Amino acid sequence: ADEAFIMDLFEKEKFDVVVNFAAESHVDRSITDPEAFVRTNVMGTTTLLDACRTYGIKRYHQVSTDEVYGDLPLDRPDLFFTETTPLHTSSPYSSSKASADLFVLAYHRTYGLPVTVSRCSNNYGPYQFPEKLIPLMINNVKHHKQLPVYGDGMQIRDWLYVEDHCKAIDMVCNGGKIGEVYNVGGHNERPNIFIVKTIIAQLHDRLKDDGISEDLIKHVADRLGHDRRYGIDPTKIKNDLGWYPETPFEKGIVLTIDWYLDHEEWMEHITSGNYQKYYEEMYKNK
Ligand code: DAU
Repeated sequence: ADEAFIMDLFEKEKFDVVVNFAAESHVDRSITDPEAFVRTNVMGTTTLLDACRTYGIKRYHQVSTDEVYGDLPLDRPDLFFTETTPLHTSSPYSSSKASADLFVLAYHRTYGLPVTVSRCSNNYGPYQFPEKLIPLMINNVKHHKQLPVYGDGMQIRDWLYVEDHCKAIDMVCNGGKIGEVYNVGGHNERPNIFIVKTIIAQLHDRLKDDGISEDLIKHVADRLGHDRRYGIDPTKIKNDLGWYPETPFEKGIVLTIDWYLDHEEWMEHITSGNYQKYYEEMYKNK
């Protein structure tokens, strides 16, 4: 969002392709502080788009989210988000991402900027910050801390291993049609409580630790405006670009837990300092 810095960077580096992964990405944080999301997600995007126009880049790709479509009812498992599903956001986070999407598409129509957009479901895998469900639960289980499950835990997310998402972005950048949106998701829908119980069972067996059990689960106050279900229809990216998710959840979750067990130092470093304050503030009234 720092225009002078971005313009200077573009001037120096002579980029040909820009992929915008940058975002404030955590829904709970957006409920506490919406403004940061407007700055990073909306103004950050328009700043990049203006730089791309000025420097005539060959391609701009926007990494968006399935949350721009809002949520689906739990009693209609036959419904999925397609690229033509109307945008219908719930949180300050998803509203800021939807706004960014619309700016990207507007820059294509108005200025002819060569853009593509991908809208992906929930990612998991290495290096994910422990504010998100899976790394937060892995970290808490290891330390025998309570596992805060929002509401009844029956909310459904469509989980995709991060490398599969990266492959999709690569394919869209290389073969996607300019001006088009591509949904990315793996038909891998699971309720949150299933995810949490899977992590408990895996860590119990791996660490041979009887202090790890489902007794750690605590149902806490629900997230405000909590989306019930996300479900992506990935037919377009499959048919047009040949993308499919290569990592089944059963394999991906083992790889992820392995990674976190092998990177204890990374986790300790990242959860010291500010994270403690974040956790205390976010969960104290839950
Ligand atoms: O769908 C894609 C989106 O997935 C991305 O656009 C977002 O950037 C990303 O944060 C993620 O959003 P979610 O809100 O679905 O992810 P999160 O990991 O925060 O939560 C997943 C589910 O688990 C959600 O239903 C809330 C619930 N949850 C989360 C946390 C952190 C809990 O029950 N307890 C928790 O402590």
